[in-house]
Amino acid sequence: MLQYNFPTTILFGENSLKDLPTLLKDRGLKNLLLVTDKGLVKAGVSKKVIKILSSKSITLDIFDEVHSNPIEEDVTKGVTAFKNGKYDGLIALGGGSAMDAAKTIRFMVTHEPPLAQYDDALGGDKKIVHPLPPLFAIPTTAGTGSEVGRSSVITLKETGKKTIFFHPGLMPDIVILDSTLTIGLPAGVTAATGMDAFTHCLEAYLVDSFHPMADAIAVSGMKLIFENLPQVIQDPENLDARGKMLLAATMGATAFQKGLGMIHSMAHPLSAKHGLHHGLANALLIPSSLEFTIQKSTDRKLKSLNDKLKNITEIISCNTLVDSDNLPYLLRGFINSTGINFGLENENISEDDIPQLAQLAVEDSCHLTHPFTITKEDFHHTLINAL
Ligand SMILES: [Fe+2]
Repeated sequence: MLQYNFPTTILFGENSLKDLPTLLKDRGLKNLLLVTDKGLVKAGVSKKVIKILSSKSITLDIFDEVHSNPIEEDVTKGVTAFKNGKYDGLIALGGGSAMDAAKTIRFMVTHEPPLAQYDDALGGDKKIVHPLPPLFAIPTTAGTGSEVGRSSVITLKETGKKTIFFHPGLMPDIVILDSTLTIGLPAGVTAATGMDAFTHCLEAYLVDSFHPMADAIAVSGMKLIFENLPQVIQDPENLDARGKMLLAATMGATAFQKGLGMIHSMAHPLSAKHGLHHGLANALLIPSSLEFTIQKSTDRKLKSLNDKLKNITEIISCNTLVDSDNLPYLLRGFINSTGINFGLENENISEDDIPQLAQLAVEDSCHLTHPFTITKEDFHHTLINAL
């Protein structure tokens, strides 16, 4: 049996944030906690949300203690704030970190600590049994798509490891995709987060499982990103393109319920050990990973994979090319057009770092759904080619 899951209710459009008070009032909610980070408070984005809600007599207090890679302490503090304020719901405002922190706070306000017992790898999802307060998600980046996901990632204090929490109840009740909220995003972050969304679509599509719905979403997501990310970089105030990028990010996260692949397995240690932005790490690894994947696919005559690679080539070449050998070159051009320059060496990664990065990549679980088995040597080879 296969299980297909699709996202929560999405309100999409310029200034869709203005509909939030009505949504809250319809549900009888009047006093909420906004989970965000200090950067968004400083940029005045949280103020905008408060202004819209207070005009309709809804109280919103700010909890802005979320780190860029959320830690257990962020959750503990958020739970205390929620309980002290006797709030009747949560709003997550920000990128993937604010989303993940809010989703975890959401279940920890009705479940006993310690957080570690809910670790998905230990079957912790079965311990999430109590009703959860409502959660509304307002992403301000177009990348992770965590706003439509059923899991969160938090670094636990005791182990220092990024730990996944999973439960269908973690999915926000309503997602608001308001393109006006991503306008102030710097070009580098826009490009890197956009390439994270692209990698989600790309890797999910290549996963060898029968999921035509997710495949269709992944292909459309890649098309949207290919058409709109360079536009957003050239014209940061292009609300139409910004909106399509927000939508594409949710599509990437919806599609990757199929799984991901070797790119994410290499990107994770590049962020954890060398501090690279997750989306940038993905982008820098795409050409060498695809060169490797195309070569193996041809050598082993993997028909389904070959067909998918051809399909992506057609999209990226605007139907002018079908030979997938051209795909890494085409994607290089596309990624360059977003302002990203290739070479891990430019990010202070040297050949000496590669053995450890290859080891950590093989220990990461994402490559288990790559369309064929990846070895440590394969990772080593691909990382060297990305230097
Ligand atoms: Fe990602």
